[in-house]
Amino acid sequence: MSLQGKHIIVGISGGIAAYKIPELIRSLVKAGAEVRVAATKNALEFVTELTLQTVSGSRVYSDVFAAINEHATEHISLPDWCDAMIVAPATANVLAKMAAGIADDALTTTICSCVARKPMVIAPAMNDKMWENPATQHAVDTIRGWENVSVIEPETGLLACGTSGKGRMPEVEELHEALEYALTPKTMQGRHILITAGGTQEKIDPVRFISNYSTGKMGIALAQACARRGAEVTIVCGAVSHPIRNPFGTIRRIDALSAQAMYEACIDLWSQTDIAILCAAVADFTPAKEASEKIKKQPGQTEWTLQLSATHDIARTLGESKHEGQKLIGFALETENEKENALAKMERKHLDAIVLNSLREQGAGFGVDTNRVTILKNSGNSVELPLQSKSAIAEGIIETLI
Ligand code: C5P
Repeated sequence: MSLQGKHIIVGISGGIAAYKIPELIRSLVKAGAEVRVAATKNALEFVTELTLQTVSGSRVYSDVFAAINEHATEHISLPDWCDAMIVAPATANVLAKMAAGIADDALTTTICSCVARKPMVIAPAMNDKMWENPATQHAVDTIRGWENVSVIEPETGLLACGTSGKGRMPEVEELHEALEYALTPKTMQGRHILITAGGTQEKIDPVRFISNYSTGKMGIALAQACARRGAEVTIVCGAVSHPIRNPFGTIRRIDALSAQAMYEACIDLWSQTDIAILCAAVADFTPAKEASEKIKKQPGQTEWTLQLSATHDIARTLGESKHEGQKLIGFALETENEKENALAKMERKHLDAIVLNSLREQGAGFGVDTNRVTILKNSGNSVELPLQSKSAIAEGIIETLI
C-alpha cells in the first residue's frame, strides 16, 4: 500500500524521542502523504512548532481553545480527515490517558475521537523504569486489545537518560513501515510465505569467499509487502546489506549464508509453505573443499586453480516436490536471450511464474533502489512492470501473482 495521497495525523507527546519526528514527517511527505500534527504542550518543549509546521506544511494542533484553529472542533474534524494516525513517541502519561479514555488536551482529544474508527499506530517510548511500571503495562495491554490499534514494541538499548534498557522508540523507517502496515488490507492473512534474498557466500578458506553483487533489496521489499498484507513470512537471507523493516515482528528471519545452508533451510520450510518466492542469487558452484587455514601464495606462483562443485538447485528441488495448492515463483537475471532463457528455466524448475530482471536496463538489477521486470507466467501470459522503486515492484509482483 503506497502512502501516496493518504491523510496521516502524526500525534506527538513529550518524550525526548520527539526529536526524531520531523524526520518521520519528511519521509511521509516524500512518500506522497498529507500530514497534520497534533502535539502536547510538553512535546513542543522537545521539538519546535515551527519545525513541525515547516516539515508538515500545516499548522500544528496543540491548543484546543486557540482562536486560530480552523474549526471550533479540531479534535473531531482531524480524525474525520485522516486515513490513519500515529502516536510517536507515546509517553507513559499519554498511554495511561488513552487506556482510560481521558481527553484533556489537543492530542488526547484527537486520539479519543480517532481510535474507534481509523487505523492507529502507537509507538511507546520512555525510560525503562516507566515502561516497567505496572500501570503502563496495564495501559499498553488494554490498548493492544483494541481492534484498530497496532502497538510497536519499544526497543532495548541506550536510553536518553544514559542507562540501557527497554523503552527506545524504533527508527523512523520502522514507524513509516508500521503506517503502511496499518493501512494495508490483510488479504494474505494466514498464508505462509517463504522468501529467499541476497547473494550466497561460498567459503574458500577462513578469509575468502565467492559471492555476487546481490544485496537482497528485492527480496526484502517482497517480504515487507507480504507482511503488510497479514501473511506469515519467513525470509531466508544470504548476504543482505539492508535492514528488514519489521515493526510488528511478523517477519521471521533465518540467516543462511551458503548455498548449502540456504538449501537446507528451504527444504525444512517447504512443507509448511503456501507460496515460495526465490529471489536469492544462489551460487551454482561452491569450492569443492573449504581450506581450514588461509591458502598462502607460494613464491613465484602465477596461477591458482580452484576446484568447484555444483550446489543444489533449491528452486528445482522445491519444484519437483510441489504439491497441490503450493505456488513457486522464481527470479531470473539474464544478460542474453533473456525471455527464452527465463521460459526454459521456468519449465526446468517447475515454477508457476518467473520474474525476469535485465542487467542491461539502467536503474534495474543489483544494489539500486529501482527495478524494471517482466513477469512470465506458466499459463503463457506475461506482465511488464515499468521502472519504479523495488517496493512498488514488490507490490506489482504480489498483485499480479498472488
Ligand atoms: O538458474 P538460475 O540461477 O539462473 O535460476 C534463478 C532462479 O533459481 C532464482 O529464483 C534463484 O533464486 C533460483 N536458484 C536456486 N538455487 C540455485 C540457483 C538458483 O533456487 N542453486
